[in-house]
Amino acid sequence: MKPRLGLPNLGLGLGLRSVHFPYIIEHWPAVDWFEIISENFMDSQGRPRRVLDQIAERYPVVMHGVSLSIGSSDPLDWEYLRKLKALADAVRPRWVSDHICWTGVAARNTHDLLPIPFTEETLRHVVERIRVVQDYLERPLVLENPSSYVEFRVSCMSESEFIARLAEEAECGLLLDVNNVYVSSFNHDRSPEDFIRGLPHERIVQFHLAGHTNYETHIIDTHNDHVIDPVWALYRLAHRLTGGVSTLLEWDADIPPFPVLHAEVLKARQHMSEQLVPASAALSGNCVPGASDALPQPLHHVVAKVE
Ligand SMILES: [Fe+2]
Repeated sequence: MKPRLGLPNLGLGLGLRSVHFPYIIEHWPAVDWFEIISENFMDSQGRPRRVLDQIAERYPVVMHGVSLSIGSSDPLDWEYLRKLKALADAVRPRWVSDHICWTGVAARNTHDLLPIPFTEETLRHVVERIRVVQDYLERPLVLENPSSYVEFRVSCMSESEFIARLAEEAECGLLLDVNNVYVSSFNHDRSPEDFIRGLPHERIVQFHLAGHTNYETHIIDTHNDHVIDPVWALYRLAHRLTGGVSTLLEWDADIPPFPVLHAEVLKARQHMSEQLVPASAALSGNCVPGASDALPQPLHHVVAKVE
């Protein structure tokens, strides 16, 4: 297998948000690539699609979905998949991604990215569904580790082992959301470095970076702020282990002006060139690679185990 499924390193990109359409069309900024939320364009033939067409003429575009619900026990939603494939055929993205999660059951969509129990049974279930979707879309899927707030007592393997086996058995790509690793590790009192080290690095096609909200007892993945230093430290680790892959900044609430967003993702350049250990050692100590001690103040009483 070729590293990253043979997919290119697109450089440093931004999540495309409609609030920035006027700025982009006026300035055509020197951003390496854009990631779109697939569902924002699947049912639209109006202005958003026209803007997207212009952007796709000038920049590489990747499609990122939030409603595939690959982990659900519901049957696959073939109407959703039909629209997804039609959009992909029109936009010609470099790849199509979604999340390792379920978003609903009994035909109801919660619009939340809900966690999967890490068992042999769910692994077989999800792998089979990924294969079916990849065959239908005629392109590989790239799947992201979501942030999570609960775990299942029935889980019999770690999240990184589950994801590693899933990627190998389904022959899909991985989107490593470094901020999600930090958020979930904090909430579940795990080592974020062990998580990243446990993945099949040659299957990682893309990174996500984002900000979050720390309530001291737990972290919520709000995408409303700058990337914090411990997440940049994890990015440096992931960059070193993968050799560097397409990197994208997500910012979905309290969205700042476009130049602020662009400057934030360009910070990644500096982290790519820094040596891992000295840079990490300057941090508070919670995310120094190799120091797999617990993150501060794990929330055992709020982040409950789910039967
Ligand atoms: Fe993400």
